[in-house]
Order: sequence, then C-alpha cells, then structure tokens
Amino acid sequence: MIIAVDGPAASGKGTIAKALAAHFGLPHMDTGMLYRAVALNLWRWGGDPGNEFEALRACDMLNIDPDDEELRSEPVSRIASSISAYPSVRTALRERQQEFAGQPGGAVLDGRDIGTVIAPKADVKLFVTASPEVRAERRSKELTARGMPAHFDEVLADIRARDERDSTRDTAPLRQADDALLIDTTDQDVPAACADAIRRVEELMASR
Ligand code: CDP
Repeated sequence: MIIAVDGPAASGKGTIAKALAAHFGLPHMDTGMLYRAVALNLWRWGGDPGNEFEALRACDMLNIDPDDEELRSEPVSRIASSISAYPSVRTALRERQQEFAGQPGGAVLDGRDIGTVIAPKADVKLFVTASPEVRAERRSKELTARGMPAHFDEVLADIRARDERDSTRDTAPLRQADDALLIDTTDQDVPAACADAIRRVEELMASR
C-alpha cells in the first residue's frame, strides 16, 4: 500500500505521515529532507541557489543526517524552496523517492508532489492543509523550541512566499490531486489530526 501525503509548509503533513506509517506498519520518507539536504550542501559550499547547474551539482553525494539541526534552519528552508523549482534537481531526486515508494509492502511518503508526480497511482492520497497564520504559529514554536530565534511576522511572510513559489512553479507545483482526501488541520491539535487521518484512510480502504 502506497500512501501519499502532500501539503504546504507546517500543515502537519509530516506528523500525519509518521502516524499513518506507525499505524499501518509501513516505512516513511520525508521527501522534503532530500531538498533540504541539497540546499544544505549548496549552502556549505557557498554555491549559488540562483544557478540551476550549481544546485544540480549539490545533488551529488547526498549524505543526509536527519539530526543535523541546520537542515531545518530558515536559510536552508528558503534555499530548499528555491532549488526545488529546478526540473533537473527534481529529476535527480525522483528515482530515490520512487524506489522507496515501490518497495515490497508499500510505504508512506510526504512532500509536495507525491500524489501528483512521484506516485500518481498511490492507493491513498491525502492533502493536508491549514491556514497560513496557524502554520506560522506552529513553525515559530517549533523553531523557538529548537533554540532558533523566530519572529511570527517574518515566519508568516516566509510561509506565504514559499506557498506562492511552491504552487506557481512550472515543474511539479504543489496542488491537491483530484483523488486526494482533504485534511484541514487549522482547528485540530496533533492527536486529533492524526486520528482523523487514520479514520479517513481506514474508511476509504473499507469502502473498496
Ligand atoms: O516542513 P516544510 O513543509 O516546511 O518543508 P519540507 O517539506 O521539508 O520541504 C522543504 C522545501 O522543499 C519546500 O518548501 C518545497 O519547496 C520543497 N519540496 C518539494 O518541492 N517537493 C517535495 N516533495 C518536498 C519538498
């Protein structure tokens, strides 16, 4: 069973994807980490995010340490959002994601284009969203908890800018797949959002 979870920044898609993976006993991939790892590589080399060729070079030898705090820093988030618009970067990262999705038994992947491009035939697709203000509040708390200074207004502006860039790019823009279930977590805390997602997926599977 392949479960595709897409949605904008800080919508709760990662948390929901992890909960679904644990519930159904499936492996999980946070595909945003791949783009962040490329961004971090580029940043450390001092490469130019405005140059597609340099961004593509940063896809080579991608070592990902999920515990590296810098992966979630604001400069890296911003670079990830800009280099993810390059078609060559997306192609370079596609195979890794499709191999993960195609493993025997299935997988849960979360990102922006899982249900539309990476796994368009996924058995279950969720599109997780929430208002920009609520998402900015969550991201500010998350950053503060990690000891990174965060100002709500700046985080909100950044989230809006990333939404705009991710949704309007030509290659694999962020959009809800026609057959995706919509989960709006604006008024849901983490346990409620995860329980709702699990219930909706189980209902969908029972109806087939
Ligand atoms: O956690 P958050 O939603 O803030 O970000 P993320 O999921 O880690 O993704 C970081 C950036 O990578 C996003 O702003 C997207 O531009 C890009 N991304 C993408 O283009 N396609 C994906 N499948 C995953 C992330």
